[in-house]
Amino acid sequence: MDRAPVVLGIETSCDETAVALVDGERRVLAETLRSQLERHAPFGGVVPEIAARAHVEILDHLIASAMREAKMAFPQLAAVAATAGPGLIGGLIVGLTTARAIASVHRLPLLAINHLEAHALTARLTDGVDFPYLLLLVSGGHCQLLVVKGVGCYRRLGTTLDDALGEAFDKAAKMLGLGFPGGPAVEQAARAGSPRYDLPRPMRGQPGSHFSFSGLKTALRQTVERLGPASLAPPQLNDLCASFQEAAGDILVDRTARAAARFRTEHPGAETLVVAGGVAANEYLRGRLQELAARLALRLVLPPPRLCTDNGVMVAWAGIERLRLGLIDDLSAPARARWPLDPDAEPAPGAGVKA
Ligand code: KG4
Ligand code: ZN
Repeated sequence: MDRAPVVLGIETSCDETAVALVDGERRVLAETLRSQLERHAPFGGVVPEIAARAHVEILDHLIASAMREAKMAFPQLAAVAATAGPGLIGGLIVGLTTARAIASVHRLPLLAINHLEAHALTARLTDGVDFPYLLLLVSGGHCQLLVVKGVGCYRRLGTTLDDALGEAFDKAAKMLGLGFPGGPAVEQAARAGSPRYDLPRPMRGQPGSHFSFSGLKTALRQTVERLGPASLAPPQLNDLCASFQEAAGDILVDRTARAAARFRTEHPGAETLVVAGGVAANEYLRGRLQELAARLALRLVLPPPRLCTDNGVMVAWAGIERLRLGLIDDLSAPARARWPLDPDAEPAPGAGVKA
């Protein structure tokens, strides 16, 4: 009996070096990941040069260990997939060059993967979701609502006019002395707090599905300044985190509900909402989105937290999806710092560089 095709996936777009082997039967055969957090933490954010160097140091070991774990040799692979963008260009080049070398030595197809598409398609690996579905993609670099119509076929309904939500969590954590990355730290502190500070919900109730988080961030800063050093310790610290998280939840629910109404009008019968990206690992926000889905009678699909944050599994799976459709890339496929999923989306009013 023929074995299901196996794809090697490589992720190096930001501060995680991750490798996985996934097959066409939706089985994860191997999964390795190395975070560079401790190297970037002293700088309060990801330093691109440090990230690229760290990927170079570790990537070959991770690939070897994934291949050992799956008991496979390179010639048995069906293809090699690597994130080609969007992301930090140095890291992308490391991953893509490595994939290219393996592909050319072993004469395997190369798949140059869009990192956002990898997040977007994860729910088809974990839950076998059919197209079309509504996707809320909330990560450190992106905050978007998209209709996923098919592989390589997306329609953007909303994006952020300023910060991504993960970025807003990271900035809030920095203000509160919680270190980097901020999301998990804010969530942890919020567990012990109550949302008693009044913070704004920018864009709530407005037409469309765009996001904005800068007003929330500024209001948090002003509250921290008003409270002084007391804001950096419990109970105020916990209450500030709970207030910030509640505001973030209200914004996500409002914007997603609007996008869901439009999605349903345009795709009668479709009923699935998928949430992806690092912020989707947040238990409180997962709960808020579960309530929303129940209220709107939508089927909610939330991949497990380890597949919401950056990982190699999603890249290998996106590779399987593209390989099935024959969407193979040339060995000269370039790394791309910017690579929007919906290149035809109307520019968001006042939007910065977010795609
Ligand atoms: O998807 P991801 O791993 O990388 C990007 O592609 O950006 O997302 C990382 C982001 C960071 O901003 C991090 O603070 C946020 O996801 N994040 C969280 C949580 N875990 C990670 N935000 C809120 N709550 C969390 N539990
Ligand atoms: Zn990501």
